[in-house]
Amino acid sequence: MAVTIVVTGATGQVGRQVVGGLVAAGARVRAVTRRPEQAGLPEGVRVFKGDLDTPESLSAAFAGAEKLYLFPVPETASQVVDLAKQAGIRRIVVLSSSSVLEEGSHSGEHHLAVERAVEDSGLEWTFVRGDEFAVNVLWKWGEAIRSGDLVRAPYAEAVRVMVHEADVAGVAVAALLGDELVGSAPVVTGPEQLSQAEQIRIIGEVLGRDIRLTEIPPREARAEMVRFMPEPVVDMVLGILADAVQSPPQVATGVEEILGRPLKTFAEWVADHADDFRRAG
Ligand SMILES: NC(=O)c1ccc[n+]([C@@H]2O[C@H](COP(=O)([O-])OP(=O)(O)OC[C@H]3O[C@@H](n4cnc5c(N)ncnc54)[C@H](OP(=O)(O)O)[C@@H]3O)[C@@H](O)[C@H]2O)c1
Repeated sequence: MAVTIVVTGATGQVGRQVVGGLVAAGARVRAVTRRPEQAGLPEGVRVFKGDLDTPESLSAAFAGAEKLYLFPVPETASQVVDLAKQAGIRRIVVLSSSSVLEEGSHSGEHHLAVERAVEDSGLEWTFVRGDEFAVNVLWKWGEAIRSGDLVRAPYAEAVRVMVHEADVAGVAVAALLGDELVGSAPVVTGPEQLSQAEQIRIIGEVLGRDIRLTEIPPREARAEMVRFMPEPVVDMVLGILADAVQSPPQVATGVEEILGRPLKTFAEWVADHADDFRRAG
């Protein structure tokens, strides 16, 4: 009989692809969302209204399920994990972050709290430690590229190993369906080291546009970013970029073996998201 798997964060960039991968593999999928009427999930998926901020709201989705893909919300993680255990769920795959490996990282603490709650439960677990999602370029530069051809950014030479959300999801699906990843915490990066200047060049090439980069001082970038992001997050992002100029992050090994296919390149990610860069009107 098909396995029943609960997917939280099911409308997210990664969660949506986890749902798709599980459906394609023939699993019975229960997708949790706070807004079922807007979820737009595929046929055959049972959609449950639920909110990770209110763990009790997840009881119906959990009842009788075997496995859980957990979107990380540290504030309630212990209660959610307890509920899952009581409901008979035996495996939890956590959407985590490679930032857990960086000492003193704000994002690392956030994700570690969820990993610890799951590990302490005694259930089977896998922590899918995603490196920086390529989708982050949309909030960094999406607006600039939709409205013009000039991107202003600090640290043009900061190198990242941006990962396609489909590859993070692919590892989560493998961890939910097979047994090989139980008790492991794979880091999932993209297949190539790219500086921010190279990322912008690739975006222009794929979109067929001449997009230029002007490097701005970090101080100026910070003043702009704090207008729409919490200060600790701004400082974290700028700190990561500063470090990435001096010590570029490395491409993780072993991910292609888990996926059984090549990792998706940044150019493929841009092509998949071309509409997100399109000028309005
Ligand atoms: N960005 C990065 O570079 C990076 C790197 C490593 C790891 N990560 C992790 O990946 C996460 C983002 O994953 P993603 O891109 O798949 O998600 P996403 O696109 O940000 O969407 C997450 C979905 O989860 C649901 N959600 C959010 N908060 C919730 C809550 N408190 N309770 C219940 N549902 C909630 C929302 O769905 P509904 O509105 O439908 O309920 C939302 O659509 C980050 O938050 C971070 O933890 C990110």
